[in-house]
Amino acid sequence: MRYIGNKRKLIPFIRQGLEELGIAGATACDPFAGTASVARFLKSHGYAVTTSDIMSFSYVLQWAYVVVDRRPEFRGLADGLERHGDALHDVIDHLNRLEPRPDFIFEHFCPDGHGGSEHERRYFTPDNAALIDAVRRTIWAWREEGRLNDDEHFVLLAALLEAADRVANTTGVYAAYVKSWQPNAEKRLRLRPPRLVTGTGRRCRAFQLDAIELMGKLEPFDLLYLDPPYNTRQYAGYYHIPEIIAEGWYTEPPKLRGKTGLPEDGNKRSDWSRRRRCELALEELVGAAPCRHILMSYNSEGIISEECIEEVLHERGLPGTYRRLKQTYKRYRSDRDSETRRYKGDRVTELLYYVRTA
Ligand SMILES: C[S@@+](CC[C@H](N)C(=O)[O-])C[C@H]1O[C@@H](n2cnc3c(N)ncnc32)[C@H](O)[C@@H]1O
Repeated sequence: MRYIGNKRKLIPFIRQGLEELGIAGATACDPFAGTASVARFLKSHGYAVTTSDIMSFSYVLQWAYVVVDRRPEFRGLADGLERHGDALHDVIDHLNRLEPRPDFIFEHFCPDGHGGSEHERRYFTPDNAALIDAVRRTIWAWREEGRLNDDEHFVLLAALLEAADRVANTTGVYAAYVKSWQPNAEKRLRLRPPRLVTGTGRRCRAFQLDAIELMGKLEPFDLLYLDPPYNTRQYAGYYHIPEIIAEGWYTEPPKLRGKTGLPEDGNKRSDWSRRRRCELALEELVGAAPCRHILMSYNSEGIISEECIEEVLHERGLPGTYRRLKQTYKRYRSDRDSETRRYKGDRVTELLYYVRTA
């Protein structure tokens, strides 16, 4: 999915870093998991991975891409669903054939909805909004009826989150919608089976916890992979719609406000996106992590200074083990320059910091 800081394209760099730095081990932790792209890679690379993030939609993706280790069979849906071959494909096909059914996303995030707001929010076309509603309701009903286990539930939700993101009328983040329909938004919502990593036999776990809090709950492990936010944009405000789709609205519909329909209590504000707090947070996290290796992704424009990262890692690491690897990439542009953030060119330097701690 389109996500600020998604490391999907940087996996070769991370893989190369692991080899070059001679990092080996059996257990890893990714406490800022986001889309779970790195955690998924670490699992397929041989690690039993523990993941976490503060966002609910990330928890869905972590579960689907890291925790699930057996291909879901959907036995609870055996009655009443056409079966042709692979169960996951069959269930996704069924969801792709549902009729639109306007509900919360239609009411609040497409121009035909009313949702008690004067804003015509153009995040989805009316058809796609009503299809997202139909799929979300079906998944919810199956879960309520006890017909989906955890793995099946999160795999289907992951497929929906990713499908909705592909047709969202945004430039990559949900802090604004585009006024005219973008070509991707006019395509029909279509779920695809997530590319699961199965059959590894490794016990992986997912959490929805603050990164520092998580450290206090873990047994010693080998590799800590850190990928904290780089800037002052709070993820909760930029990805509120995936968050609403992940959490659903069936017990208590969120109350929305403003032009973008941000939930009133949707301010999971993070110290890692605050200039005055992020460096202290890094110091605290690194000091508390019960690990043998620390590998940290950051880029050249992040709000934590390079001196701070170096100092904190030196403080915690064994003498002579600190390293810094770098690679230059084409920039991911999610929106236009603003008062608070100016792009400094088309290329950005991605860094990998490393230290061995035991
Ligand atoms: C740079 S992104 C990580 C991207 C991820 N590696 C990927 O490839 O998709 C940073 C993540 O940190 C999460 N985050 C922010 N504050 C956090 C906190 N206090 N504890 C845990 N996660 C946090 C954000 O929700 C976001 O997903």
